[in-house]
Amino acid sequence: MIIRLDKYLADMQIGTRKEVKELIKKGRITVNNEKSVSSDTKIDTERDIIMMDSEIITYSEFEYYMLNKPAGVVSASNDPKNKTVINLIKSKRKDLFPVGRLDKDTEGLLLVTNDGELAHFLLAPKSHVDKTYYAVVKGLIGENEINKFKDGLVVDNELTALPAQLEITGYDNVKDESSVEVTIHEGKFHQIKRMFEAVGSSVLYLKRISFGPLKLDNSLSKGQYRLLTDREIQQLKMLRNGEHNEKICQG
Ligand code: URA
Repeated sequence: MIIRLDKYLADMQIGTRKEVKELIKKGRITVNNEKSVSSDTKIDTERDIIMMDSEIITYSEFEYYMLNKPAGVVSASNDPKNKTVINLIKSKRKDLFPVGRLDKDTEGLLLVTNDGELAHFLLAPKSHVDKTYYAVVKGLIGENEINKFKDGLVVDNELTALPAQLEITGYDNVKDESSVEVTIHEGKFHQIKRMFEAVGSSVLYLKRISFGPLKLDNSLSKGQYRLLTDREIQQLKMLRNGEHNEKICQG
């Protein structure tokens, strides 16, 4: 990729565009050991060696964050009325977006990135990326509901939910509420809420605890985020590559 030197440095969080221009002017930045460079010097991100005070600054095109989404913020890049998940992340990148949506009142694991290709794969219905949710729902949930979820549900005459795994983790008989974990393999609008409505219950609290190979990091409190580890990024890419390999095998 060919980009301007000031963008390269700002993308790598060296400073704001204004700050990095200043660093360049002061001669602290070199390109292939060359000091006479300017903000608009064109950089080949794969070939050129950029250094600040003799330390190499490697370019990575993409950023991947795991956010523990709190309730009350919307899963969008911009929203004229509401705080968005992107507003929570302090990054110089202007092209971050959430991978899919959690409802405004849903909490938990949300992947945020600027890698459009990977996001497209993870969200494609045919990718069937597993998502697990912890939920507190109204009433006593039992074998009957487990079987209905396992068989796949027709919801509102239009949404056919693929077979889903429902596990019951508790029941509060004073409040008449069950706590459950549900794994679904698709991501339709309000899917979990609509599935419970289809079996005569309703969702009181919803939190996503895993997304494909990623597990929500318990050390992240609501609203906190961290960069994905190299291993986590690798696991996501392996999922995508698995799909490619399958296609090759199928010819
Ligand atoms: N299903 C829902 O109903 N809401 C979410 O936010 C995610 C899955």
